[in-house]
Amino acid sequence: MAEAWDAVINGNCLEVMAGLAPESVDLIFADPPYWMRTSGELQRVEGTVFDGVDDAWDQFSELSAYEAFTREWLSACRRVLKPHGSIWVIGGMQCIHTIGAIMQDLGFWIVNDVVWRKSNPTPNFHGTRLTNSHETLIWATKSKDSKYTFNYKTARELNIDTVSPTDYESGVRKQMGSIWTFPVCSGSERLKNASGKKLHSTQKPLALLLRVVAISSRYGDLVLDPFGGTMTTGVASKILGRHYLMIEQDEEYCDAGVARLAMTAPEDGPIAHAAYDERPPRAPMASMIEEGFFTVGEPFYLRDGREIATLVADGKLSFEGEALDMHTLAAKARGAKATRLNGFDVWHVKRDGELVPIKDIREQYREHVRRLAE
Ligand SMILES: C[S@@+](CC[C@H](N)C(=O)[O-])C[C@H]1O[C@@H](n2cnc3c(N)ncnc32)[C@H](O)[C@@H]1O
Repeated sequence: MAEAWDAVINGNCLEVMAGLAPESVDLIFADPPYWMRTSGELQRVEGTVFDGVDDAWDQFSELSAYEAFTREWLSACRRVLKPHGSIWVIGGMQCIHTIGAIMQDLGFWIVNDVVWRKSNPTPNFHGTRLTNSHETLIWATKSKDSKYTFNYKTARELNIDTVSPTDYESGVRKQMGSIWTFPVCSGSERLKNASGKKLHSTQKPLALLLRVVAISSRYGDLVLDPFGGTMTTGVASKILGRHYLMIEQDEEYCDAGVARLAMTAPEDGPIAHAAYDERPPRAPMASMIEEGFFTVGEPFYLRDGREIATLVADGKLSFEGEALDMHTLAAKARGAKATRLNGFDVWHVKRDGELVPIKDIREQYREHVRRLAE
């Protein structure tokens, strides 16, 4: 079967994945059955029944059956994943250790395990153990050598877990960590069935999926989810301009997910395009001179206004009869111990009589190059 892009396929993921081309998928997000092993009715302290996970799709006869199933779907994922793609698997305490062990056994290389800290967890109603207030996501590649996508700066931009709202507002950004706080999916985000009850017992928060997709894939990539449920992964992918292939065995979930996807609009923007991680266009001095951003013979100044050198045709600076590259001369002019300093942090030119850092001129040149590329 050829890759069906932007599709929801109603079927068993093992069978569907067997029909996909090998090494055809950039990113996989899998939210498999957790095998919760709940028994009997779970009651709140005041006696009302808590609507937990007791679905038929979450039942397994014994550990060996769950292990066999896990090995099978993970092997199928491994076959269709591109060599430099990556996979995320989410699970609770009931299953994540089994899954993690099998992933390593199959050769996956764990990049991170992320704790999804639930800001509104279900309490342990009878106080018999700790509130189970997190789930774990394993992020892995096919091998240790995979050159997987990680939009590092986009992740920094999205990190509101370790930066206070006030600091974030004033521009503070910090490296994203492996503990993410999101509320459990509820309210209007939660899909309901015809009788107004929650349609799916384990619908994941869209915010969680948006983060996963944004930081570990590129615009236009293909994202696969073998356990689609309400199609949260597809929705996040569509919003962020990725293609999606969603597999789900339950027809009712598929129908609801298709409707949800139809109502979803892409949100084009810097997060979708990982613009923060874009490498700026190259800006060689010779090209900037050629394009008129600098003029041969113009003086180069230090920040304090001292005129030190003049620009020569090949982008070097003429200083006391010698042509030096701007970084070496920057160190010399500053009297630095290092033999070279970044000249773009040191040199200024004059525009309309005012000193302007040459890195600002370089930025203008890059904008010009970007515009030409559009
Ligand atoms: C934990 S839920 C996924 C929920 C989803 N992430 C969401 O946000 O709605 C697991 C889903 O996998 C589906 N499923 C279980 N076994 C499957 C299989 N072999 N093939 C396809 N779907 C399967 C179940 O019907 C269930 O909807």
